[in-house]
Amino acid sequence: MDDIISKIKDRIDIVDLISSYLRLQKSGVNYKARCPFHNEKTGSFFVSPERQIWHCFGCGKGGDAFGFVKEIEGVEFPEALRILATRAGVELQPFSREQQQFQSEKTKLYEITELATKFFEKQLHNSTTGKTVLEYLHDRGMTDGSIKNFRLGWSPDSWNALTDFLTQKYSAQEVQNAGLIIKSDKPSTHAALPTTNYSLPTTHYYDRFRSRITFPIFDISGQAVGFSGRIFGTTTSEETAKYVNTPQTSIYDKSRILYGLDKAKLGIRQNNKCIVVEGNMDVIMSHQAGVNNAVASSGTALTDGHLKIIKRYTDNLDLCFDSDSAGELATTRGVDLALARDFNVGVIAISSPPHSLNEYGGKPGIKIKDPADFVQKYGAEWAEFAKNSKPFMQFFFEDARSKIDITTAMGKKFFTRKLLPFVTAIASKVEQAHWVNEISAALHVKEDVIQQEIALFQPKTYGQPAETQVNGPTQQTDPSQRLNLVEESILSILLKKPELAVNIIPENEIYLSEQCRNLVKHIGEKGFSGTADLALKMSMDIAYLKSQELWKDFEDTELERELKNLLGQSKRQYISAQLERLEYEIKAAEKAQNKIQLAELVGEFTKISKELGN
Ligand code: CTP
Ligand code: MN
Repeated sequence: MDDIISKIKDRIDIVDLISSYLRLQKSGVNYKARCPFHNEKTGSFFVSPERQIWHCFGCGKGGDAFGFVKEIEGVEFPEALRILATRAGVELQPFSREQQQFQSEKTKLYEITELATKFFEKQLHNSTTGKTVLEYLHDRGMTDGSIKNFRLGWSPDSWNALTDFLTQKYSAQEVQNAGLIIKSDKPSTHAALPTTNYSLPTTHYYDRFRSRITFPIFDISGQAVGFSGRIFGTTTSEETAKYVNTPQTSIYDKSRILYGLDKAKLGIRQNNKCIVVEGNMDVIMSHQAGVNNAVASSGTALTDGHLKIIKRYTDNLDLCFDSDSAGELATTRGVDLALARDFNVGVIAISSPPHSLNEYGGKPGIKIKDPADFVQKYGAEWAEFAKNSKPFMQFFFEDARSKIDITTAMGKKFFTRKLLPFVTAIASKVEQAHWVNEISAALHVKEDVIQQEIALFQPKTYGQPAETQVNGPTQQTDPSQRLNLVEESILSILLKKPELAVNIIPENEIYLSEQCRNLVKHIGEKGFSGTADLALKMSMDIAYLKSQELWKDFEDTELERELKNLLGQSKRQYISAQLERLEYEIKAAEKAQNKIQLAELVGEFTKISKELGN
């Protein structure tokens, strides 16, 4: 395994790799860019060709080629390995025959879905009905650029157009596995033959998507894995659903795929925020209006799987609500899950007409219920409007207050029943306490009564579903482990000026981690040489880059002062951690009513707190 990693590293140059994502500028021996992982105006992001690493002095992130791919693609190590292996032309050996077989079956499904995407695109652009569909899309304000970019298509009004096309090359079974055609066990209606004594073909297949606008659904790397098909024309009736979607297949898991994420992932990072809208149209129109961090959960509530994926990119999540039904939507959209995952959840309330936009006029006659309508009417104004989200609890609290008469007993009950499930879901206890206080004040009911009521709402517990396995080894430990930033900076100063190591004395050494102490010792003895085998090579490499870039213009005395500051910081970190531990122990002792132990712990706590002041 280590073999494969070093083989890949040998073949990939970090500067080439990163250049394929960002524009790098030469800066002395290193390269520089604006950091893709946080919002900045100046370039704090450095790449060292010599050490084959990258590091951002602004946000502290850094690592090797694997770490970069993990961050920028938002994937875990095994997937990063796969991406880089492909890039390097290194073959990964799948584990077993079954796995190999599964892999090649999946490859086929990708091919089939891609072929179907092309087929539908062609129907949209080249058929007569396709032309009217295009007109409809243009009418709704969609540009040709968006249609191409999101690869919209048209499935003809036929029971077998796609079936016939795809089964020329693939077996019906394979196409069915891709979710594109449906097997009917009823004998074909035109086979009006006696059903006994003959071995009739009792199964036949028909197209799942008929007479629909097709929206291919892409996975995070941009491969089409399924479709969402919107009804078109006047045939809307009770029986025909507005949307038909690909069912669960081995390449399409709707609880994990977010529509538009392949195109939004960089925008989410840059804005440090993800906007979740409701429909495919909303995603496309948002992107068209420059809101490049919008995704949709395709009509379902956000699942924990979706949230886990978004969490790789950001902690901030804004949901779009039609303001008429905001309250109801909140309960069905997975907001509680997002709060439990410690997202800062915001709400963008859409109303018609948006008050702030009255003066813009916009196109008349469009009632605005969702972002797509908004963009149709006001175009790029959406980008401005979407910036103004309200924190979810504040929004929900105000919404409920305006709708419920909380002077009556019933109203009070109703109000708490509505809000408390969300309050209990909030991960931060401090934030939770804030809302208990707000509710108590609004209702004129004591806080402890609210607390008792809260106990009735057990927050949901979430099982951790098994991660889907990606091709290749998964037990591989991540080789890009790092020390904390303070310790890394200490090392960087020592690399710049090893003589300063005399400042690290037994009194302050105790606050450093053992690994850091070992590296300090290593620098004292050998400088930077011989670091290849070190457990924390990554930290040493980054410290090296820091010594080159961060301390470039520092005088010796300044370096010494910085080092002292950093040592002080590591002491404070150490003490804070100790205090935190003691706090837990004190709580436990209180609970157990162990007075002797409690007194001891409190004594220790006071003593250590004083040290913080020194
Ligand atoms: N949806 C679905 N099945 C349905 C209805 C809706 O899967 N029967 C999903 C689709 O992914 C759709 C989303 O829910 O994009 C939002 O539905 P809706 O707001 O009704 O549709 P829009 O996408 O807004 O479509 P349009 O604006 O074209 O009416
Ligand atoms: Mn809509």
